[in-house]
Amino acid sequence: MSKNIALRVEELLSKMTVREKIGQLNQPETPLPNELDAFFESVRKGEVGSILMSVGATAGNDKQGAISNDFYNEIQRIAVEESPNGIPVLFGRDVIHGHHTVYPIPLAMAASFNDKLVEECYSDIAQEASNESIHWTFTPMLDLARDPRWGRIIEGTGEDPYVGAQVAKAVVKGLQGDDLSQDGKIVACAKHYIGYGAAEGGRDYHRTEISDYSLFNYYLPAFRAAVKAGVKTVMSSFNDVNGQPVTSSSYYLDEVLRGKLGFDGFVVSDYDAIIQLKKQGVAADNATCAEFALNAGLDMDMHDKCYIDNLEKLIEDGKVSMETLDEAVRRVLTVKMEKGLFEKPYCERKEYNKEAHLKNAEEIALESMVLLKNDNNVLPLKKDATISLVGTYAQERRSHLGSWCIDGKEEDVKTLCDALREVSTGKVWYSKGTELGWDSSLVNSYAADVVVLALGESWSTTGEARAVSDISLPKEQIELIKKIKLSGKKMVGLVFCGRPIAMQEISQYLDAIIYCWHSGTKATDAAAKLLFGEVSPSGRLPATLPRLATHIPLYYNITSSGRPVDCYYNENPAKCYVDSIPTPCYPFGFGLTYTQFKYDDLKVDCDKISLEDIKNGKKFKVTVVLENIGDFDAKETVQLYLRTPVAKWMRPLRELKAYNKVFMKKGTSQVVTFEIGFDELGYYDPQGNYTLEKGIREIYVGENCLTENKIEITVC
Ligand code: GLC
Repeated sequence: MSKNIALRVEELLSKMTVREKIGQLNQPETPLPNELDAFFESVRKGEVGSILMSVGATAGNDKQGAISNDFYNEIQRIAVEESPNGIPVLFGRDVIHGHHTVYPIPLAMAASFNDKLVEECYSDIAQEASNESIHWTFTPMLDLARDPRWGRIIEGTGEDPYVGAQVAKAVVKGLQGDDLSQDGKIVACAKHYIGYGAAEGGRDYHRTEISDYSLFNYYLPAFRAAVKAGVKTVMSSFNDVNGQPVTSSSYYLDEVLRGKLGFDGFVVSDYDAIIQLKKQGVAADNATCAEFALNAGLDMDMHDKCYIDNLEKLIEDGKVSMETLDEAVRRVLTVKMEKGLFEKPYCERKEYNKEAHLKNAEEIALESMVLLKNDNNVLPLKKDATISLVGTYAQERRSHLGSWCIDGKEEDVKTLCDALREVSTGKVWYSKGTELGWDSSLVNSYAADVVVLALGESWSTTGEARAVSDISLPKEQIELIKKIKLSGKKMVGLVFCGRPIAMQEISQYLDAIIYCWHSGTKATDAAAKLLFGEVSPSGRLPATLPRLATHIPLYYNITSSGRPVDCYYNENPAKCYVDSIPTPCYPFGFGLTYTQFKYDDLKVDCDKISLEDIKNGKKFKVTVVLENIGDFDAKETVQLYLRTPVAKWMRPLRELKAYNKVFMKKGTSQVVTFEIGFDELGYYDPQGNYTLEKGIREIYVGENCLTENKIEITVC
């Protein structure tokens, strides 16, 4: 915070009444038409610090109204010109993976392993959002998730803390830039702090069971990265950790978030989370909810009016101190000043390069889709091939936009059928199935060169409050695959799913599979370009794809058991279950390209390094020679994993510690170099202390977490 802003905040604070101070911590949602007069009056009294620009508790599922700059500028005018101290209102909206231009869902963008491109996409997103009165978005969502039954897995970055940390940095930088007050930049919000993704059984909002050891090593790293990248707000999560709702936990909200991670912005609750403390059984009434939340360090109250209705009396009764209130208001005013709201409170539409945004949307969709299988090089298809296109997602539009798409329009999305016909120079036959009295999809398939199956899940079974009990593909799609198999033709599956799904049942029938996710406005354009080989697929899995729905949770960064039945790395898999083998169908970090890459000459520039040198910043270099030995130019994501075989606290069998996505023309080779040091070699103990120990480190460098391409180094 600059000195100038600190002085301005103190000066403003000194002029505000208690009610005005509380007003800054109050975030109602957009008023309904019959609430307008009362709403304007509360703004006029300085009782509205921020507005949640949507209606309802699950904005990602329900249609929201379009934004009127005139409407929000009028609210702002009342606040600036008619309220006691003219403090501007902060407008926040869930702009999760796009505004009018919709990018792939965040889990898909994480699959790109292209942090620079993710940052560019979020810079586009900030530009479009700020053009429509939005100062603040509630993203990046950084909830590490291992259970794909949980619908919100699509909003995060998957099962790995390092990927989460890289995406956190990219999104915060893209949204906030280096100077938040600049036009086209908006306030980011790291959410949901903390542990929401561990909801038991994947059932949304359910309880979690997270040890602090796991919290510090798996769930917190992405938030630590977001804080380090300068995120200005954090949203607390609905769930409980270790017997306490996060909403009222001064340990998690203050000691950990502010004390250990160094966060200095403000914390906003999730929707109605404060009043929900009653349901969670730690408070008997609304006043106690407000008292516990504010005293725990939760600064702004989203929607339930607990603060504005109760804090004045709590202050009078001495249950909440004026210092606590002032500290929360100070944080909110500081962010408003850093955003430049006092200088530029009103929204003026600015031109932006829509074509450039669409180009980035297509680029990241191309880099997010994952080639899982390509037997006998079925792909890429020849452009003059005769294709029999089958499956419900051949004519789909809306699902490609995914959940949490509030301002995108499905009419902007081409159907897959249209996209294929745009690129193909041959025939693309599409039929819904049984028409004209016979099953035309099967007849077409007999006559075609190849069958493309458009498979997937609806956007409406993903996102908030959209958990599913079975992550298998819908039965009717499995039946379609089996039926088309009768044609004897090569079968290519395009899987338009948001969450990771169980893959064994479909992969056994298909010759080639591209996991296309829900990839936004340009999803089908990208799928068509990959199918015909205009670009080679380069996505990598940020989350494991299990064989069966009954094998979850299944994730790569597990610690070893005393008896080698970890199941993921294929040690005695038969001892995991007596009825099936739970090794992954497609593991973390996996993805093919149309070419082949060869890894050679893995080296480290020293075989030992002292603990002291590492603590003093010395790093060692790991190099590998990568060669494109196939027939296509392509991108490879070279991944570096660490294993600490012996440590005071149990360490995972593999931990991703670095990756480098490189483009290589066919027939070329290059040396890929990683620098490894203090930040990569340690871990956190259950008290959250970063711990670096002597001993052997195994370094694995390869194409996914199962690579056995290993060298060792000793920390002495
Ligand atoms: C929802 C979500 C949160 C979202 C907020 C505002 O309940 O949990 O992610 O940002 O409310 O819509």
